[in-house]
Amino acid sequence: MIYSKIIGTGGYLPERRVTNAELVTRIDTSDEWIVERTGIRARHLADASQTTCDLAEMAARRALEVAGISPAELDLIILGTTTPDMIYPSTACLLQARLGNHGATAFDVQAVCSGFIYAISIADKFIKTGAAKHALVVGADIYSRILDWQDRNTCVLFGDGAGACVLTASDTPGILSTHLHADGAYHPLLHVPGTVAQGRIQNGDGFTKMHGSEVFKFAVKVLSDVVEEALRFNQLDSSAIDWLIPHQANIRIIQATAKKLKLPMDKVILTVADHGNTSAASVPLALDIAVRDGRIKRGDLLMLEGVGGGFTWGAVVVRY
Ligand code: ACO
Repeated sequence: MIYSKIIGTGGYLPERRVTNAELVTRIDTSDEWIVERTGIRARHLADASQTTCDLAEMAARRALEVAGISPAELDLIILGTTTPDMIYPSTACLLQARLGNHGATAFDVQAVCSGFIYAISIADKFIKTGAAKHALVVGADIYSRILDWQDRNTCVLFGDGAGACVLTASDTPGILSTHLHADGAYHPLLHVPGTVAQGRIQNGDGFTKMHGSEVFKFAVKVLSDVVEEALRFNQLDSSAIDWLIPHQANIRIIQATAKKLKLPMDKVILTVADHGNTSAASVPLALDIAVRDGRIKRGDLLMLEGVGGGFTWGAVVVRY
């Protein structure tokens, strides 16, 4: 049996840190409202010259360095993003060129905030079937570019960033299971409606539209369901989980999932206060931070989960 093992992680946040106090000077909101409803205190925003590929490259190089793998050894690059540099080529191909890899399979995955969960699950299948040996999996978004900065319902929630990991084929686990779901019927609750034709955005605009409280309820339900599904599949009790690494959209959604798992909050990796929701980057960034600060150790059992526009959602169980 071939498993895929995480042998390196990396992350990158743009330098500019924007606190709630700074947002209050520009929009009708308050630090109290944002902290109480979401747990977010600050977020990092890319500057105008940066692209998603720039952020992805920083995270990817850090993950490759830890893994001790050269870009030429990669035979698979999957990148989750909703804010690609261009309509095409994929940001994965742009990243491949930056890294100097020639010939690996490379493509983007569009699953919004579940982008990394989808991407690592697909990479796991490639490795398990013997189709790839060394995979680079990245979640990267400059989500701030698809926010209407006049819309206080959405603009306070998100930030920019990138996270990455390198997977390698191994005869010991590794990723134990992956669980992916989607239900497009719910897409009106969270979407960016515009499409590009005749060189312009048509059918609406390029800004995030969200029905916050419906998204909240949906997220709590599907995340609870999918983590239970993942535990059942592996015949595990939730007490076996060493670390929950959740999508960092809202502290209250995370608390609800932890409660369902009967996991104390000190077993949950949290970045939401300082990063906000970095979309596809949120799970790999949290993973990288906890690996680097020594909380996550070899042999620990991890539950990764995410939910995003689509709707898409999923969970990944990893013996680190
Ligand atoms: N500052 C102050 N007041 C605000 C703000 C703000 N930034 N934003 C909204 N409000 C007001 C609204 O105008 C509304 O006022 P009204 O009642 O007078 O109309 C009220 O606050 C909204 O209240 P609720 O909807 O009850 O707020 P709720 O407790 O649901 O919190 C929130 C809103 C934070 C958006 C929450 O619903 C949430 O986190 N939802 C999930 C969002 C999410 O996870 N999105 C990302 C999904 S992942 C992806 O793929 C992108």
